[in-house]
Amino acid sequence: MARETALVTGASRGIGRATALRLSAEYDIVAVARNEGELASLAKEISIGGGKCKTIVLDIADEQAVATALRGIKCDVLVNNAGVATMKPFLELTSAEWHRMVDVNFNALFYVTRALLPGMVERRHGFVVTIGSLAGRNSFVGGSCYAATKHAVNGFTECLMLEVRDSNVRVAVVMPGSVETHLTPSAGDQSWKLTSNQIADTVWYLVSQPDSVLVSRLEIRPAKAPKHR
Ligand SMILES: NC(=O)c1ccc[n+]([C@@H]2O[C@H](COP(=O)([O-])OP(=O)(O)OC[C@H]3O[C@@H](n4cnc5c(N)ncnc54)[C@H](OP(=O)(O)O)[C@@H]3O)[C@@H](O)[C@H]2O)c1
Repeated sequence: MARETALVTGASRGIGRATALRLSAEYDIVAVARNEGELASLAKEISIGGGKCKTIVLDIADEQAVATALRGIKCDVLVNNAGVATMKPFLELTSAEWHRMVDVNFNALFYVTRALLPGMVERRHGFVVTIGSLAGRNSFVGGSCYAATKHAVNGFTECLMLEVRDSNVRVAVVMPGSVETHLTPSAGDQSWKLTSNQIADTVWYLVSQPDSVLVSRLEIRPAKAPKHR
């Protein structure tokens, strides 16, 4: 039987890269991000492991470019992972920072999912996993835009889940706490954080459930809070 395909956005590093690698054991991967070199290194690693990976260099905030690049792709699992974060008090946040977060973390969900979901519904088979955040239900200083986009992710995911579940398409959101990646600048000991591989394992867990089971929302956080906080 032909292998299924998983498309992962933000696959060049961090959680997306780990997820693409994890899923490559079972799926052919389509890896999407802007950094061509990092995507090429991912594709090489997947190929060395015996898997297949096609790369697409793409700014997912560009609606037209997304529609063109993703047209005709038969996708069984979509992982909406790409995201950006600028944590600043609202009065220090620039218009460009605000729009970038809204465009990548939220608007791009429309562009990418809109391109791939119709095929899933038509084939009555598919899974859409979006990487949200615990910021999607928490409030904190410096999160007025980032947390708002992640709250929006939850609303989007849960409404979509209800809309397409009868078409045999499952939709879920993973809400991580702190993960050691390059999402935000960080100093000092980071060893208390979750790893990208642990989030990748969580995505794997979701998509490996039997067809009749949908774990639609999953929160995952470091077991212990850091002492210095
Ligand atoms: N790290 C955490 O503590 C944490 C916690 C909760 C949730 N999350 C969420 O996890 C997801 C992944 O973040 P991460 O921590 O792995 O961060 P990361 O290491 O900074 O990776 C972000 C990824 O998003 C891609 N990306 C950013 N803008 C893009 C654009 N315009 N077009 C295409 N790709 C774009 C980046 O690729 P290019 O730069 O190559 O385009 C990169 O692959 C995000 O949605 C984030 O909000 C992270």
